[in-house]
Amino acid sequence: MNGPLANDPLLRPYQLKHLTLKNRVMSTSHEPAYSEDGMPKARYRLYHAEKAKGGMALTMTAGSAIVSRDSPAAFGNLHVYRDEIVPWLSELADSCHEHDCKVMIQITHLGRRTGWNKADWLPVLAPSPVREPAHRAFPKTMEDWDIDRIVADYASAAQRCQAAGLDGIEFESYGHLMDGFWSPLTNRRDDEFNGSLDNRLRFTFRVIDAVRAAVGPDFIVGIRMVADEDVEKGLSRAEGIEIARRLASSGKFDFLNIIRGMIDTDAALTGVIPITGMPSAPHLDFAGEIREATKFPVFHAARISDVATARHAIASGKLDMVGMTRPHIADPHIVAKVMRGEEHLIRPCVGATYCLDRIYEGGEALCIHNAATGREDMMPHVISRTHGPVKKVAVIGAGPAGLEAARVAAERGHSVVVLEATGQAGGQVQLAVRNPRRKELIGIVDWRVSELKRLGVEIRYDVWAEQDDVTALGPDVVIIATGGMPQNPPLDAGDELVTSSWDILSGAVKPGEHVLFYDDNGGHQGMSAAEVIARSGAELELVSPERFFAPEMGGMNHVPYMKTFHEKGTRITINTRVKSVRRDGNELVATLGSDFVKGWHDERRVDQVVVEHGTVPLDEIYHALKPLSRNLGAVDYEALVHGANPFPERQPGGAFTLFRIGDAVAGRNIHAAIYDGLRFTMNL
Ligand SMILES: Cc1cc2nc3c(=O)[nH]c(=O)nc-3n(C[C@H](O)[C@H](O)[C@H](O)COP(=O)(O)O)c2cc1C
Ligand code: SF4
Repeated sequence: MNGPLANDPLLRPYQLKHLTLKNRVMSTSHEPAYSEDGMPKARYRLYHAEKAKGGMALTMTAGSAIVSRDSPAAFGNLHVYRDEIVPWLSELADSCHEHDCKVMIQITHLGRRTGWNKADWLPVLAPSPVREPAHRAFPKTMEDWDIDRIVADYASAAQRCQAAGLDGIEFESYGHLMDGFWSPLTNRRDDEFNGSLDNRLRFTFRVIDAVRAAVGPDFIVGIRMVADEDVEKGLSRAEGIEIARRLASSGKFDFLNIIRGMIDTDAALTGVIPITGMPSAPHLDFAGEIREATKFPVFHAARISDVATARHAIASGKLDMVGMTRPHIADPHIVAKVMRGEEHLIRPCVGATYCLDRIYEGGEALCIHNAATGREDMMPHVISRTHGPVKKVAVIGAGPAGLEAARVAAERGHSVVVLEATGQAGGQVQLAVRNPRRKELIGIVDWRVSELKRLGVEIRYDVWAEQDDVTALGPDVVIIATGGMPQNPPLDAGDELVTSSWDILSGAVKPGEHVLFYDDNGGHQGMSAAEVIARSGAELELVSPERFFAPEMGGMNHVPYMKTFHEKGTRITINTRVKSVRRDGNELVATLGSDFVKGWHDERRVDQVVVEHGTVPLDEIYHALKPLSRNLGAVDYEALVHGANPFPERQPGGAFTLFRIGDAVAGRNIHAAIYDGLRFTMNL
């Protein structure tokens, strides 16, 4: 390596025992829930291979691969207790090794962090019968034979990983079984596994001794460990650092991967894995302290989202290897871009944590604005140029869908112009970022706008496109990405009296003093407006017909909203509909109804009723252009999902191919818009 790159601390190799890691960037273990039957099959392999291709030195696969049958998968975890996993892991390792990317795996017994009512219906266990709020199981107390059995399971799991040709393993020891022995909060035993630190570490040392006996002294074994639970009565910082010292000096481990905080509730989890609007790299200094105290290899990840912070983590000697885990979900080619001097082209991780929330909510991790991640078999991370003719592409609307379609079409080599009705790009993302806590989401827009600039695509602002504006461009392809407009929920009366969440977010209408917010959508749109209202100082009641509010949003994204609602005294009423609104003098009277009891009603007197009920497509231009098009707007979904040309020729003389994407079709979310933008356009 020559020139300035040679001096980049991030790109310097790192020697871990016999293993040379070619740079300092890694992806820490995370379970994207891409497993099939508990095995890391093609989807899993391609996901990691893409990061390997993208230049990272080490990918840690399998968040929380389970070593025992009585640790049933909680979020798609790999079954490292089964021999069949060896060839799958081996194939995965080979495809990363091809790019000189090392591969390790995290193994664990989930302990109380899972449910009993799945897989083999075996009882969940823990050192003591202390329930984990997040997964809600009441665990049985581990007996002597459980301890023996699980120690042996760790050893045979480690052997399988070694047999597969992986470069190493780490134990997961935060919020799972192993650290359950360490913490005074979860260890209430009265035997030799509780009391002194020696006793609380007894299980850990039994495991490492059994694993070492199974895999030998050379195989790399590390531990991802909590070194401070950061909660009253939990494992203290002093004890955590002492544990780190003892593990490091035991000569049995090869690295420490440092965690600070707890994961037993959604709120706690966001302390360990902070989401958008939360501080950057909050535990980096702490990880540095552990490195200083132990003089041992230290890895760490927690919202080190940009290259500058990652570089600082290494340059300042706080870390040996820096984890950029979600950043690689957003852009698997970070290191390659750094090496090419294209740091500014990295697709930014905006902290939305759609990825992590979806392992529970949707059964697979997906990035809010990279639709290729996890779909590497069909969707390209790097768009190839067309071998066919260069087409004139007109994109109507510069929201996320339109921007993505324009970017992809331009990468294909087509001549693209974007017409945008307003004075700025971004569509509903511009509304979302009016909530200051979510302002980072603008990265979704800014990255695309700068990519369009690089690709020479013109965005014409303040153009309300009519049929003639579009046909005057003489396009071969017209992409309608005009988004939608807010609609009211069904009300018996009072449509004209309510305010939309858009009006609040845009600032067009100021929050009132006594506000009833009716969210009949269930996602961020309503919550974000409600958060803005609550923060304005208004007395707010949130009403939702759902069993719990905002069910379309995952647990981690729920946290900051609920924090605001508790801080601001927001009243939350679920299982209730707003039926109608009427005016009474200076007040608005909202009549509430129930799906459960016919005739039940209640009333609220407020000065403002704000509603959220999604959007209706803005599709006039689509319908106007439809008769002129070759495909008459039709899409062949079979062809679309199989990567073939999805536009049937319905009218051979038609002037152009026409399709619509994103909310211009039906109100959905940012990922859906971006996915449409990519998949409809990538084969043009
Ligand atoms: C989808 C997903 C699943 C995760 N699962 C695990 C896991 O099983 N074990 C683990 O130690 N960390 C897990 N993590 C946490 C990551 O390893 C990492 O600590 C976290 O994302 C913070 O780093 P980042 O800010 O670089 O993303 C998961 C993260 C994500 C996004
Ligand atoms: S969903 Fe958000 S947090 Fe997750 S990788 Fe994508 S941008 Fe980052």
